[in-house]
Amino acid sequence: MSYYNIQNIPLTDLAKQFGTPLYVYDADKIIEKIAILRDSFKNVNLKIKYACKANTNLSILKLMRKHGVEIDVVSPEELRLAMMAGYEGSQITFTPSGVSFDEIELAAELGTRINLDNLDVLEKFGKQYGNTKGALIRLKPHVFGGGNEKIMTAHPESKFGISIHQKDEILEIVNKYDMKIIGLHQHTGSDVKNADAFTQAATAILDIASNFKDLEIIDLGGGFKVPYKEGDSVTDMAEVGEVLSNAFLEFCKNYGRELQLWFEPGKFLVSEAGTFLATANVVKTDPIKTFVGINSGLNHLGRPMMYGAYHDIFNASNQDTSEQQEYRVVGYICETDTFSWTPEGKQGERLMNKVSAGDIIAIKNAGAYCFSMASQYNSRLLPAEVLVIDGEAKLIRKRDTFDDIVRNLVSVDI
Ligand code: LLP
Repeated sequence: MSYYNIQNIPLTDLAKQFGTPLYVYDADKIIEKIAILRDSFKNVNLKIKYACKANTNLSILKLMRKHGVEIDVVSPEELRLAMMAGYEGSQITFTPSGVSFDEIELAAELGTRINLDNLDVLEKFGKQYGNTKGALIRLKPHVFGGGNEKIMTAHPESKFGISIHQKDEILEIVNKYDMKIIGLHQHTGSDVKNADAFTQAATAILDIASNFKDLEIIDLGGGFKVPYKEGDSVTDMAEVGEVLSNAFLEFCKNYGRELQLWFEPGKFLVSEAGTFLATANVVKTDPIKTFVGINSGLNHLGRPMMYGAYHDIFNASNQDTSEQQEYRVVGYICETDTFSWTPEGKQGERLMNKVSAGDIIAIKNAGAYCFSMASQYNSRLLPAEVLVIDGEAKLIRKRDTFDDIVRNLVSVDI
């Protein structure tokens, strides 16, 4: 059954071969999602810019590049990783939030596309480069969209972008320095399932876009919601594709030329491709509930504890459904550390096939914001990562060793 395999390789074999805890990614799934996105926007000049903060493994970046997906980065380090993967300056978009001007300069010198997200930086950029370098402006459209308040980015109180209500200030700076604004950008939030939020945001941006005469790009960010469980509600890509494409094409007609429509998805491309494998260390029955304690924790996969996120969890070692039981799946970190959250965002239990110590426990949707947000908390080693590609499992990151924990420590005489 495909739930238990990636491209015909049993999850338990992967765990045995590479050890646990382990991240495994299915290249076919990523390729499938790229195709779905392209198909949803087939009527426009679409460019996909993978928001690599979701998963920066070099091999994932190379896979994206091989399939014609460009890249969105948020730090000089992501920028360097993108270049290591073979991306050139103009294929890279730098979309930072509140960084020093040094970082903007670095990205500009390397020829990347830059999203300027506050008036001060816009002014500095104008003063320094005038019309010699094009830039995009990140706008805040005052729209509510996103799975929870930590990942909503376009609402009135959000720190991101320049408010659309500051249009006059923006234009004053742009005109003062004769700036070449080649694009407008907005990002609504993450896990945005409601097509309306995308439409409202796009409308807000397109409404003021005709004030900028040099546009080549409209960048509508990322945030498409993926399924976290069977039957989960998701962004209706066909609907969003049609509505946004129509609004965009209408704008282009009035603007007088065909622009590029950009998106920067992270989760949509990689979330479902990832599965996290851990080993059940203990099955602990107490009078109220039964805990399964795995050899990992919020240090490796923090989304449940950080956002109350629901991730499907199952026993990859036992396909026999005759002895199912409710388990609270927990990590080894020395504070509350629960993986099994309810769809309502509460800690809870999951009905799973009987678990015995030593079984491999699999956690789904582990491709986005899981490894990339992992830490060495409790001085634990970061897991290994494996990519299954063309039916073959390839190690794409070695497991940490103790050396990685002490590498930068400076031992002084105390
Ligand atoms: N563009 C910009 C400017 C962003 O800030 C983000 C995500 C994206 C694109 C991609 O969004 P996506 O398509 O992946 O939803 N750690 C959180 C998600 C944080 C998203 C941050 N920005 C989580 O695990 O839910």
